[in-house]
Amino acid sequence: MTNEKMKILLLPGDGIGPEIMRVAVAVLKECGSKFGHHFDFAEFPFGGSAIDASGVPLPPETLAACKSADAILLAAVGGPKWDAQPIGKRPESGLLALRQELGLSINLRPIDLRPALRTLSPLRPERIQNVRIEFVRELAGDIYFGRHHTESHSSGERAVDEAVYTTGEIERVAQYGFQRAEARSGRLASVDKANVMATSQLWRRTVTRLAADHPSVKVEHLYVDNAAMQLVLAPAQFDVILTSNMFGDILSDLGAALAGSIGLIPSMSCGSGPSMYEPIHGSAPTLAGKDVANPAGMILSAAMMLRESFDLKLEAEWIESAIDRLFASGIRTPDMVEPGTTRVGCIGFGEKLLAELAATKVP
Ligand code: IPM
Ligand code: MG
Repeated sequence: MTNEKMKILLLPGDGIGPEIMRVAVAVLKECGSKFGHHFDFAEFPFGGSAIDASGVPLPPETLAACKSADAILLAAVGGPKWDAQPIGKRPESGLLALRQELGLSINLRPIDLRPALRTLSPLRPERIQNVRIEFVRELAGDIYFGRHHTESHSSGERAVDEAVYTTGEIERVAQYGFQRAEARSGRLASVDKANVMATSQLWRRTVTRLAADHPSVKVEHLYVDNAAMQLVLAPAQFDVILTSNMFGDILSDLGAALAGSIGLIPSMSCGSGPSMYEPIHGSAPTLAGKDVANPAGMILSAAMMLRESFDLKLEAEWIESAIDRLFASGIRTPDMVEPGTTRVGCIGFGEKLLAELAATKVP
C-alpha cells in the first residue's frame, strides 16, 4: 500500500481518548511526512460523546465511515456520565456493535515488556525474564453477545447472561492462534473452564481436534483460574494464549499489569472488515483533562496498524524504537514514574517523542 492513500478512521471517544489520540495522530503525520506516505484521516463521533451529540453510541455515519476505511484507530469509550444507562444504550454497547458490524472476531494483544521499563513490573526481575506473550482473544461471541435479560423474581430480580459458542466460531479463532504460534515459538496455551462450562468443553474439543493439523505446535490446555495464577507465578512459560472473549478480557489486563502499566499495551481486532487498533486500557475518566494520560499504548496501536494493515514494518519499528529510547532516557508519564526518572504529561510525552522522531534518520 506504500505511497497509496491510506484511509484511517479516527474514533477518539471519551475520557482520555481525545488526548492520547491527538498524540498518536501527530506521530503518524510525522511518519507520513518523513517516509512520504499519504495518510488520509477522518474523525467520527463514537461512544459517550456520540450519545451526547446524537443519542446513540454508534451513529450510522460513523459505522458507514468505518466500513469504508482501510483501518480504524480507536482510543477509548465510557465514563461515569453514562454509567446509569442500561446495557444496549451505553458507550460500550457501541464498541460491541462496531466489533459485530465489522466482523471483528479476533483480538490480538501482545504483552511485550519494553526493555527500559523492566523495573516497573510488579514481578521480581527473575520472574519476568523472557516474558513475551501474545493473547489471541475471541471477540465476536461468548457471554458478550448472548442474551442479557433481567426479570422480576420473588426475591427481587433475576438476571440472565447467556454464553454461546459454535464450533465455527471457535475454529476461526483457534486456526488464527495456531498460525500465530507457528510464527512464534510454537507454544499454544488454550484457556477455558471446561470443568464447569459447556461452551468451554466445546472449546477444548475443537482446539484438540485442530491440534492434529498443527504437529509443530505444542498445545496445552489450562483452566482459567490456573492460567491467572500461572501468569503471575511463571509468565515466561507462555507464548500464545488462546482464549474466549470474556476470559481474554480479564487475563489480558493481568498480562498488561506484568508490563508495568496498562497504558503500554496495544491491540488489533481483525476479521472480515477493516482492522481496528486500540490500546487495551479504558477511558480513565478520572485522568481526563489533566494531561496525565499515558499515550504509549495508543501510539503503539498506531504502529501496529502500520505494520499489520499497511505492511509498513520499517515505519512501525521507527516509532517503537523511538518510544523505547524515550523510556531509556527516563521520560515517563505519571503512571510510570520511578525515582530518577523525568515526569512528563501526555502532551509533553508527545512533544519529546516528536523531537526524537525528527532527530532520527529514516532507515
Ligand atoms: C476491552 C474492554 C471492552 C471489552 C469493554 C470496554 C466493553 O474492556 O476491550 O478489553 O470488555 O471488550
Ligand atoms: Mg478489557
